[in-house]
Amino acid sequence: MLILNKTAGVFSKPSKRNMYEFLRSFNFHSGKLFLHKLVLGIETSCDDTAAAVVDETGNVLGEAIHSQTEVHLKTGGIIPPVAQQLHRENIQRIVQDALSASKVSPSELSAIATTIKPGLALSLGVGLSFSLQLVDQLKKPFIPIHHMEAHALTIRLTNKVEFPFLVLLISGGHCLLALVRGVSDFLLLGKSLDIAPGDMLDKVARRLSLIKHPECSTMSGGKAIEHLAKQGNKLHFDFKPPMQRARNCDFSFSGLHHVIDKMIMQKEKEEGIEKGQILSSAADIAAAVQHTIACHIAKRTHRAILFCKQRDLLCQSNAVLVVSGGVASNLYIRKALEIVTDATQCTLLCPPPRLCTDNGIMIAWNGVERLRAGLGILHSTEGIRYEPKCPLGADISKEVGEAAIKVPRLKMKI
Ligand code: KG4
Ligand code: ZN
Repeated sequence: MLILNKTAGVFSKPSKRNMYEFLRSFNFHSGKLFLHKLVLGIETSCDDTAAAVVDETGNVLGEAIHSQTEVHLKTGGIIPPVAQQLHRENIQRIVQDALSASKVSPSELSAIATTIKPGLALSLGVGLSFSLQLVDQLKKPFIPIHHMEAHALTIRLTNKVEFPFLVLLISGGHCLLALVRGVSDFLLLGKSLDIAPGDMLDKVARRLSLIKHPECSTMSGGKAIEHLAKQGNKLHFDFKPPMQRARNCDFSFSGLHHVIDKMIMQKEKEEGIEKGQILSSAADIAAAVQHTIACHIAKRTHRAILFCKQRDLLCQSNAVLVVSGGVASNLYIRKALEIVTDATQCTLLCPPPRLCTDNGIMIAWNGVERLRAGLGILHSTEGIRYEPKCPLGADISKEVGEAAIKVPRLKMKI
């Protein structure tokens, strides 16, 4: 039974007739014989409605995405019922567009893979409900997807990467370091104890009113900070990286956020401007904030690499660090991580920016990975629920903390 919470319960599910009409709209018969298995991936865990068709070898046959960023920028953050409504309005078109672009008829699909955890309850509910109807009509296997697992495995679509590898996932909703030992075999080394770095960057960008900045008005908070930071001087502000004394791989961003907020208030007083106007020192603040979180993320990742090396958990001849999630598209943070991987003889790999942020391709690819490994392929949809909160893998962060590895100081000349 599909469990939807109260608000999601009023979701106007596509009626059976609508679904038939939707399926009938695919009257094309490509005549093409697909030799490989094909997976349709559907993503609605946060504020992007996305779908893609990917084949077994990693060919992306079609994709479509509807981003809600502009709407949420105007309201100053994601309002879950608004996100839900936008997913409802767009999901059918987005799935249809991805299928049409792929020239695959729904009957040719091998399976449908959909994000069911973790994420915003109201958003997850729309994707799951739509997918279950499709699965029911088409009589296809269903593959439930963990959003963070999908981010972690994306690199295997673009690069030849064998297990095990270390992954750093940094986005608007997540921040974690994990060892990936197999398609669904993860060891969690550390995570954020409070908010995610993307969330912090979004909050700082909002506080700096960057939406009013002519160069940044359509950018996400993180992208706006990266853009503005290029024009600023990071040395004009001295924010201390968090958790310097904690010898583990956990992260924290809310204390730093509080310090930055206070600094912005002080600067507004000094410059004699009102909250909502853009500070003349906004670019310097952006540069310093970006530098501080880059150092924090680099240091925790450095410790994770040393821990894995100490326990012989990574491939000795080619230890790989993969970085993904929306914040991983930040080139300054990537540079900081490059300094760490150079110092530890690791290879740093990042998916291209468009595959770092949420997309349907990573969900379809996760479906392919699970199909190939024979893991979590469901032939009955009974009892499937979405899970707003869901950890990734087995948590060994306590053991990491107990190892108390001292990280050598690196010069962060970026
Ligand atoms: O992975 P994603 O698309 O969605 C989540 O699962 O959260 O990540 C979105 C987050 C937002 O917080 C956004 O501000 C941040 O990624 N982001 C960036 C950059 N581009 C997007 N942060 C830093 N630098 C960027 N260039
Ligand atoms: Zn994400």
